[in-house]
Amino acid sequence: MLGNFSYKNATKLYFGDDSLKYLNDELPKYGKNVQLIYGGGSIKKNGIYDEVVKILKDNGKNVIEDGGVMPNPTVEKLYEGIRIARENEVDLLLAVGGGSCCDYAKAVSVSVNCDEDPWDKYYLRFEEPTCEIVPVGCILTMAGTGSEMNAGAVITNHEQKLKIGHVFGEDVMPKFSILNPVFTMSLPLRQMSAGIYDIFNHICEQYFSGEDDNTSDYIAEALMKSLIHSSLIAIEDPKDYEARSNIMWTATWALNTLISRGKSTDWMVHMLGQAAGAYTDATHGMTLSAVSLPYYRYIMPYGLAKFVRFAENVWDICSEGKTDEQVAEEGLIAMEDWMKKIGVAMNLTELGATEGMIDGITDATLILEGGYKVLNKDEVRQILKQSL
Ligand code: NZQ
Ligand code: ZN
Repeated sequence: MLGNFSYKNATKLYFGDDSLKYLNDELPKYGKNVQLIYGGGSIKKNGIYDEVVKILKDNGKNVIEDGGVMPNPTVEKLYEGIRIARENEVDLLLAVGGGSCCDYAKAVSVSVNCDEDPWDKYYLRFEEPTCEIVPVGCILTMAGTGSEMNAGAVITNHEQKLKIGHVFGEDVMPKFSILNPVFTMSLPLRQMSAGIYDIFNHICEQYFSGEDDNTSDYIAEALMKSLIHSSLIAIEDPKDYEARSNIMWTATWALNTLISRGKSTDWMVHMLGQAAGAYTDATHGMTLSAVSLPYYRYIMPYGLAKFVRFAENVWDICSEGKTDEQVAEEGLIAMEDWMKKIGVAMNLTELGATEGMIDGITDATLILEGGYKVLNKDEVRQILKQSL
């Protein structure tokens, strides 16, 4: 049965190859001081930085620089961003980059006016913000996380060896996001692939849970089919606008809260991947691809009917004359072939993980209970070992 839910998505999107011009429509809604958040410099190389700064200046804004947001943003960088925002009394946090910049902007937004330590409050105690939240806008340059239209913000604490995501309430969603597929075309191929797998896994995390006849699962299947189709085109020709725009739009829908409405969700691949990420600092999407097959093969017997449906509806596996187990396994084999075609990491060793890290990664893995099998720590360890 479709469960009860509320649904509101507070983010206004502008999509397309001319979408940056709509920044002019948004900026007048906010005060003068804009904290311009970006990463390690890709936006300076591809010219997006110059275009954005010009629009900010044309709109009479003070541009407060906050570059150097690293992939998997750290708690130390978060403290720096909070300091910059406080010192400059910023009115808008404008993230220009991938999920790391968008997540970081949201983490700053809930912390600027908060007296407590944000790591302890939001990431260890999972409390909700009680202070005024500084508005966030995003100009997305990488498709993957869905951060442009959700309230998630993942922060890494290297000292504590923890990478934790907090999914805040709708007040923390970006007020607006600008999605220009052309901006994603300067991404290195490996980042494009990592983003594609991240999108795919977001859909899987919400699909592989529950047995109900749920509209969300039909939407999920359609999103997966579109992504598989467009990803194969984009791998051959990264400049294919249609494929890149389909991938970008699928990324947003994969994790903008819609397909989780009224149903349970899993998220254990992300818990395993994030724990591995805290030890290796590897690219997010690659940590997910590295642990996925051992995890799904392990839980398949507990959710067999859904894995059969996945094989038939997503991978077009013919079930005639086969057992359910055979059909389900053929679905996972098809998924594995696709993962290899798009070039994602197939194990944790490739990402720098070692046998000696397994106990630590096991301890750092949060165990959630929405999937087909609630894992115990021994099972987590076993799956991680198989992922090496
Ligand atoms: O830093 P720059 O120089 O910009 O380079 C980035 C970075 O090195 C580069 N890049 C981005 N756009 C580019 C580009 N290079 C050339 N051209 C472009 N157009 O790509 C690299 C990766 O960027 P990053 O933002 O780190 O990637 P992604 O979008 O995958 O974000 C990853 C972060 O998001 C979190 C992850 O855990 C990780 O910390 N997630 C956030 C989620 C959410 N908010 O809901 C959910 C996800 O599951 C995920 O956990
Ligand atoms: Zn993800």
